[in-house]
Amino acid sequence: MDPRYHVADTSEIISPALLIFREQLEANLQHVLKIAKDPARLRPHCKTHKMREVIALELSQGIVKHKCATLAEAEMLANCGVRDIFLAYNIVGPNIRRVVSFCQRFPDIRLGVTADHLVPLAQLGNAASDAGISVDVLLDIDTGQHRTGITVGSQARILYSQISRTPGLKPGGFHVYDGHQHQKSLDERRTAVLREFEKVLAFRDEIVHAGLPVPKLVCGGTASFPIYAELTDPSIEFSPGTCVFNDAGYSEAFPDLVFQPAAVLLTRVISRPTPDRVTFDLGYKAVASDPPAGKRLTLPEIPDAEQVLQNEEHLVIQTAHADEFQPGDETYAIPRHICPTSALHKEAYVIVDGKLVERWQVVARDRCLTL
Ligand SMILES: Cc1ncc(COP(=O)(O)O)c(C=O)c1O
Repeated sequence: MDPRYHVADTSEIISPALLIFREQLEANLQHVLKIAKDPARLRPHCKTHKMREVIALELSQGIVKHKCATLAEAEMLANCGVRDIFLAYNIVGPNIRRVVSFCQRFPDIRLGVTADHLVPLAQLGNAASDAGISVDVLLDIDTGQHRTGITVGSQARILYSQISRTPGLKPGGFHVYDGHQHQKSLDERRTAVLREFEKVLAFRDEIVHAGLPVPKLVCGGTASFPIYAELTDPSIEFSPGTCVFNDAGYSEAFPDLVFQPAAVLLTRVISRPTPDRVTFDLGYKAVASDPPAGKRLTLPEIPDAEQVLQNEEHLVIQTAHADEFQPGDETYAIPRHICPTSALHKEAYVIVDGKLVERWQVVARDRCLTL
């Protein structure tokens, strides 16, 4: 057993359970701060954990700017005392009304959102000016992921100047998320990230030259933020998410990152259906199922485990050591993708020095809190 993930008494822990090892979480956070060099350069993404207590830890370290993907996360951040929130999402439909309500409810909070299209931009502008509020809008720039955003060029220029001309909206800078840069080698990743970022910088210079402000560039996730951190441009903010908890996927994909798993799953054997099979209470309602079946988690204590079947509440493995397991036996699993995994749990059990010390609610797993 890896002593870092030992829990002395599990009798109060209902499985499958999300466990947070606070020492590992704090070590990851210290590592983030070391890479960033200054907490003012950070704008971590809360979608990984969706928990108030992690925000409180970050605030206690001087990290005052935060990023989120949903209005529920924005509301959680606001209730934690965050006063500078970037909702990195294009606002459409009823979310326009919700953004207005958010600004009315929290008038002292600076809220930014993204846009990549003129139509919802105009709708947001109308709603904001009708309500007498002001929202920062960051132009969502596509540097190759092709998920959202717009490539730098004439359309992007038109959109950004439209933001600056729309009453109720303020040009907030650019959002540059490059989660497609998955090169295992840091040198190759750096080359690919900077090749795209140079185009963003040239575009920024063009916009500034045309007389429009570009106050900030919110860039990257866990894999690219150490690369942006090497740059000295004061308008760059880094927005890693996963690294506070880390996961098996990132540990394997990015060997240069030395974050440790801080959130793992406790699971118990519920059956031994055949001589070489062991069934755990760890179905895909407890661990993210966006990775392919068989690769959704690792079981460090059963290195030869082959994950042969997973249903909603069952994980069946095949192992040469099956006869060593009895129903009720426990092990821990490291999820391959922690962000959707934490959202599957209502609360997390927090472990310090091998002991269960408290429970944290996964507050923003709901789509809607009160707004
Ligand atoms: C827009 C945006 N920013 C930041 C992040 C954080 O990236 P990571 O999870 O690699 O740290 C994500 C992750 O999905 C994201 O979608």
